Amino acid sequence: MSDRKLSLGLFMPNCSNMPSISTANVVADQWTFEHNKQLALMAEAAGFNYLFPVSRWRGFGGETNFLGTSLETLTWATGILAATQRINVFSTVHVPLFHPFVVAKMGATLAHMSGNRWGLNVVSGWSEREFGMMGVPLEEHQRRYEKTGAFIEILQNLWHAERQPFNHDSEWYRVRDGEASPVPDKPPEIANAGSSADGRNLTARLCDWAFVSTPSIEAVGDVVSDIRTRAAQYGRKVKTAIFPFVVMGESKQAAESTLEQIIAAKDDVATKNWLHDLTAGSGSFDTFTENMLASSGGGVHVLGTADAIADQLEAAFAAGVDAVMLTFPRYMEGLQTFNNDVLPLLKQRGVV
Ligand SMILES: Cc1cc2nc3c(=O)[nH]c(=O)nc-3n(C[C@H](O)[C@H](O)[C@H](O)COP(=O)(O)O)c2cc1C
Repeated sequence: MSDRKLSLGLFMPNCSNMPSISTANVVADQWTFEHNKQLALMAEAAGFNYLFPVSRWRGFGGETNFLGTSLETLTWATGILAATQRINVFSTVHVPLFHPFVVAKMGATLAHMSGNRWGLNVVSGWSEREFGMMGVPLEEHQRRYEKTGAFIEILQNLWHAERQPFNHDSEWYRVRDGEASPVPDKPPEIANAGSSADGRNLTARLCDWAFVSTPSIEAVGDVVSDIRTRAAQYGRKVKTAIFPFVVMGESKQAAESTLEQIIAAKDDVATKNWLHDLTAGSGSFDTFTENMLASSGGGVHVLGTADAIADQLEAAFAAGVDAVMLTFPRYMEGLQTFNNDVLPLLKQRGVV
């Protein structure tokens, strides 16, 4: 029998109004550190493996100003790691805004502080609202990922003593006799959430995790096998995580009705701004409907009774998914109900 298990994670509400671009069934101010810390402790106590934040520099306008208030994720991770003991905590950095030496040093520090519980999601950026505000140019899509590749190569050299000193010459960075000490005892896991072929190829070549967004659980199998095939071309293995939007109810109808309320109260302005930036900046979410983005920020919908939710997570696991970073309409309530009602089912079935 395989000892493969599904890792559980939370896609954390370190930004305001997560995860729905709506005024119904969200807790707008749940971004506070204290709230994040309580969720982290609850998730850790329940045996979750990962906490994963969102990195944003500006909101998307409208009534909600979706994600407009946010905690920066390297400093956020420092506090969360200090408050917890076992759970792994990611940070997310935008490549155009950080020098890889700075991130390598911060990462090595976090790895040493936490007993190697820190990981990094490297994002290339897509929102002209954010980058335009800062006067930082958003490169053309393919070039963005080329730069991200160079960034990760430098990080990895700085996290391996045996690769130092090193030189690096690319259009993006020039390094001479590069070194950094301490290196982490174990290289931190690197994730990328790119959806395009450029993004997936980069993930296949250099990352440990592909974080993906799929329109349905049925679509997960194809994405997993695509990522595995691309990774195999580099002789590598890459794990896949999805981020389900979990809406629980006493019945399927009750869960659907919660979802309908969220969609009925969607913030049209913020949704259109988000969609505009995503389409202009990435083009990878063309198959997602506006309602899907508004309700879950692009997370795959997992709706119904506890049993139905366990079924859908089990199906994703069977399709090859290695981790789920869960989101809930109201995180505290949602996590509590998940832990009470769904987790025992997943344990019984040997999924987690
Ligand atoms: C699970 C997940 C998490 C993401 N987190 C962030 C984030 O915190 N900040 C950000 O700017 N983009 C984030 N993204 C966007 C991706 O980095 C990427 O730009 C997007 O999926 C479009 O893919 P593409 O660039 O390959 O077209 C995330 C995407 C996913 C699926």
